[in-house]
Amino acid sequence: GRVLHFEEISSTNTYLVEQAQQDAAAGTVCVADRQTAGRGRGGHAWHSEAGAGLYVSALLRPELSVSHALKISLAAGLAVQTTLEQSCGFHVDLRWPNDIVVPQPGAFSKKMGGLLTETGVSVEGQLRYAVIGIGLNLNHIEMPAEIAASATSARMITGRSVRREEVLVSLLHALSQEMILLVQDPEEILRRFTSKSGWALGKRVKVDEDEGYTGVTDGLDERGFLRVRLANGAIRTPRHGGVRE
Ligand code: BTN
Repeated sequence: GRVLHFEEISSTNTYLVEQAQQDAAAGTVCVADRQTAGRGRGGHAWHSEAGAGLYVSALLRPELSVSHALKISLAAGLAVQTTLEQSCGFHVDLRWPNDIVVPQPGAFSKKMGGLLTETGVSVEGQLRYAVIGIGLNLNHIEMPAEIAASATSARMITGRSVRREEVLVSLLHALSQEMILLVQDPEEILRRFTSKSGWALGKRVKVDEDEGYTGVTDGLDERGFLRVRLANGAIRTPRHGGVRE
C-alpha cells in the first residue's frame, strides 16, 4: 500500500480514520515524525516527541465481522512484539489488551509502546475499516517527568539508538503476516496471544474498574477479552481499560 509521511500531523490515527471514511485503499499507511495531538486509549494523550518515537497508523479492510475487532488489535500487538524483539534484541511483553511493556526486575513493568485500534462498522455488522495506530518509544534518552516512573524507550534499555525506518519496514511486514493469519483463522490469534503474553495466564493483576478488584489471569474468552479469576472463583472480564500489576 501507499506510505504517507508527515513531518508533523495532529494524529496519524485521526488522519487515517478520515481517509478511511473517504474510501482510501486498504494498506494505506500514515507515519509522522511528531504528532501535535497524539491519542492513546481511554482519551489519554500520547506523548509524540519529534524524531524519537515511531508514530504510525495502518488502514485495513479485513473481511471480518465486528465480533473480531478486538482480535485485530491483539494480532497487531503480536506483530509489534516480533518486530521489537528482532530489531532491538530484548524481550518485550504484551499487557492486555494493547500495551507494549518491558518487565523490570523487582519493580513494575514499564510501558514502551501502545496500540490504538479504531473501527468502522457497516449496518450488517461487517468491519468497513480498521485503523491500527502504533506508538513506540524508540530513541528517547529520557521520558517526560509525568511518565518517567512508568515509561521507557528502547534506547534507555540498550543504550543504543535504532533506526526508525528499519523498525517501520519490519513492523509493516510483521503486521501484514499477522493479518493474513487472522483472516484465515481468527481463533488462532487467541492461542498465539495467550502463549506470547506473560500477562494472559496465571498473572496476578489489579483492575481499576467498577469498585476495583484483583485476581489472577485465566486466558482469553472467545472475543479476546481477558478472563480474571477472583479469589472466590468467579470470572470477570475487564473492559478496555486493561489491567496492571
Ligand atoms: C495507548 O497506549 O494508549 C495507545 C497509544 C497509541 C499511540 C499511537 S501513535 C500513532 C497513532 N496516532 C495516535 O494518535 N495514536 C496512535
